[in-house]
Amino acid sequence: MKKEKIKVGILGFGVVGTGTFKILEKYSDMIRNQIGTDIIVDKVLVRDLTKGRAIHASEKLFTVNAEDILENPDIDIVVELMGGEEPAYSYISRALKNGKHVVTANKELLAKKGDALFEYAKDKNLFLGFEASVCGGIPIIKAIKESLSIDKITKITGIVNGTTNYILTKMSEENLGYDEALIEAQAKGFAEADPTADVEGFDAAYKIAILSNIAFRTNVDINNIKREGITGISEKDIKEVKSTNKIIKLIAKAEIVNGGLEAEVAPIVLPLEHPLASINGVNNGVLINSESVGELMFYGPGAGQMPTGNAVVSDIIDIAKQVAMTCAF
Ligand code: NAP
Ligand code: HSE
Repeated sequence: MKKEKIKVGILGFGVVGTGTFKILEKYSDMIRNQIGTDIIVDKVLVRDLTKGRAIHASEKLFTVNAEDILENPDIDIVVELMGGEEPAYSYISRALKNGKHVVTANKELLAKKGDALFEYAKDKNLFLGFEASVCGGIPIIKAIKESLSIDKITKITGIVNGTTNYILTKMSEENLGYDEALIEAQAKGFAEADPTADVEGFDAAYKIAILSNIAFRTNVDINNIKREGITGISEKDIKEVKSTNKIIKLIAKAEIVNGGLEAEVAPIVLPLEHPLASINGVNNGVLINSESVGELMFYGPGAGQMPTGNAVVSDIIDIAKQVAMTCAF
């Protein structure tokens, strides 16, 4: 017999947590029709219970005690959307230890400590979904893991950070100053809690590490990724490059060279005909070169509440399909 309800606990209710909740509520009928079971958000962990939340829900939904989710035997799936290394790592480990499937959007954590978490999830026969950790709304993880699983990927080149692409676009297209453009990106919910991660290229480095891990089946040490952000680019640089019919983009690249992986993040001057030159605003674009397919390009919103919420929900649905089918009562 199928499980009647699948219960989800969300750790963190900011930009992505709120988007995830809204999508699970709005499309609840569609979800029931697809998987034959309801998905219910049972508890949400936040830091501050007094903060206004952009949803209608009972006060009882929120808690400041992680135990209410991690130690709750009714919760099947834990969704980590707090960000940062700790307490995210400890909470995910505890959720897995307690037999719960996990979904996370936390690229920093996965790039730094993902190998231990994936190993642990595998040992326990549990899912650890991470579609939302790279390129927001673009289903690039699934494409690499599933559609390209039998192809040999040789190179990945992309714009994988929405905040910096938004800033560079605003500076180039609207002559906005760097500070003003960053404030806009923060207000729209694109930037990390500490935007240094975006503008100094750390976030893009985490993402190219995650993509490389699955595409090249390796364990990339993020300290080996050469990294430069956009803080050294002046408004004058942008104008000069534009006057030569070129454009500056923050590019993340990973490639197999002489049997070894070379990865870097850096601002690159591209000719306007380059496929990544026209990726503007919060959008991301990724080119994947592989032996059988040749070249593929992925394009779409790289950050933001609803696109990223959709990526989180797609992992929840994948897990829920399995949970619903394997639970007999
Ligand atoms: P956010 O808006 O800053 O929200 C973080 C949430 O986590 C807040 O609700 C906060 O509680 C809660 N939180 C943080 N630390 C906590 C702790 N120690 N205990 C309990 N609750 C805690 O962040 P976000 O933009 O949603 O990002 C969440 C994750 O998704 C990050 O890993 C980020 O890198 C990733 N991501 C974000 C985007 C995006 O477009 N924003 C896209 C892809 C991936 P309070 O509300 O009480 O402060
Ligand atoms: N801060 C990130 C970005 C969020 O701007 O791309 C999406 O991972």
